[in-house]
Amino acid sequence: MSSRLLIDVHNHVYLPRYASLLRSRSNAPRILSRLAVSGGTEERLLILDHEPSGGRPVGPQYWDRSEKLKFMDLHGIDISIVSSANPWLDFLSASSAVDMAKSLNEDLEEYCQTSPTVSLSLKRLYGFGLLPLVPSVSSNSLVQIVDQISSLPHLKGVIMGTRGIGKGLDDEALNPMWEAIERKGLVIFLHPHYGVGKEEWGEKENGHVLPLALGFPMETTIAVTRLILAGVLDRYPNLRLLLAHSGGALPQLSSRLASCIHHDPVVASRLKHDARYYLGKLWFDAVAYGSEELEFVGKVVSRATRYKSASAPTETDVPQSNKLLFGTDYPFFPPLEAQNEKWRSVLDNLEAINGVESWTQDEKDNVLYQNAIDLFGLNQSKA
Ligand code: URA
Ligand code: ZN
Repeated sequence: MSSRLLIDVHNHVYLPRYASLLRSRSNAPRILSRLAVSGGTEERLLILDHEPSGGRPVGPQYWDRSEKLKFMDLHGIDISIVSSANPWLDFLSASSAVDMAKSLNEDLEEYCQTSPTVSLSLKRLYGFGLLPLVPSVSSNSLVQIVDQISSLPHLKGVIMGTRGIGKGLDDEALNPMWEAIERKGLVIFLHPHYGVGKEEWGEKENGHVLPLALGFPMETTIAVTRLILAGVLDRYPNLRLLLAHSGGALPQLSSRLASCIHHDPVVASRLKHDARYYLGKLWFDAVAYGSEELEFVGKVVSRATRYKSASAPTETDVPQSNKLLFGTDYPFFPPLEAQNEKWRSVLDNLEAINGVESWTQDEKDNVLYQNAIDLFGLNQSKA
């Protein structure tokens, strides 16, 4: 690939079929209409039972593809890998979740397949499909939907939350699903929804700040740590997981985690490698809003091979920016006031990448687009 691009791997949509489902519901997750302070009606999105601030306003940016393309044009984003936003299918019965997953995956394929092109071989939109990850769903259904997603040419992976089929991502019942995802070479985008217990947030009204800034990343940290502890990355070493929000606190806590494992008789000999090794097997979005944080994640990831066990195949160190990928989290974090101007949240993440002092331009380009091309095989895509 010779020309430079900008590729956004973390952005969302509520496809029209899903938005209609949310409008039909009378409890969270739901979209409700209410009288706006300015007169007329407004729609609000409530995705948690005890959502702060009465949820948030929603509009066409959440479901309208032309709004996403406008946003991409405004920010110079060439390609977006689009995922359904939380809480996905978590609230449905098993049979409804299977039907909805099939339909939404077809909808997303169509959404991407009919998008404009960047070049002869590339579309502007690709997607992550949905799996019916709800209690009592059968492994067969999960594997069938993995097969469906991998048969849809513009879907390059799956987005999933942290609950699995009710017991988290360390549940052995998920093994056939991991095996199928690994076999099909799909990328897993691991994204939070529930945060941590709301009792942690106290009684002061702080809007969405605590659940989003701290709850989300902690949820991801715990989920991926449990997955590592369950040996999933030992059993399926070719699984490719992309962690939202730069992996939460995992990079910061990985040596502490390694030490706790080392000193615990229950798990000390369970894993094939030191916990820090597994960070080198993961990908991290660059939605961290700060250069120093990105540089830190890059360093922690790149030292992973130092922690492989003697029996591991020879591997070379991961270069520092090779596992980080630009993202926006669109349509979340819109500017509070000015319309038609670039979004602060996007500019912050671009400035963070471009401001990492120790990275060369090539290393920054890895994060801005090259890692996405490699991870999603976009150089092999047909428009
Ligand atoms: N970002 C998301 O992806 N989901 C939310 O609910 C809020 C921010
Ligand atoms: Zn997100």
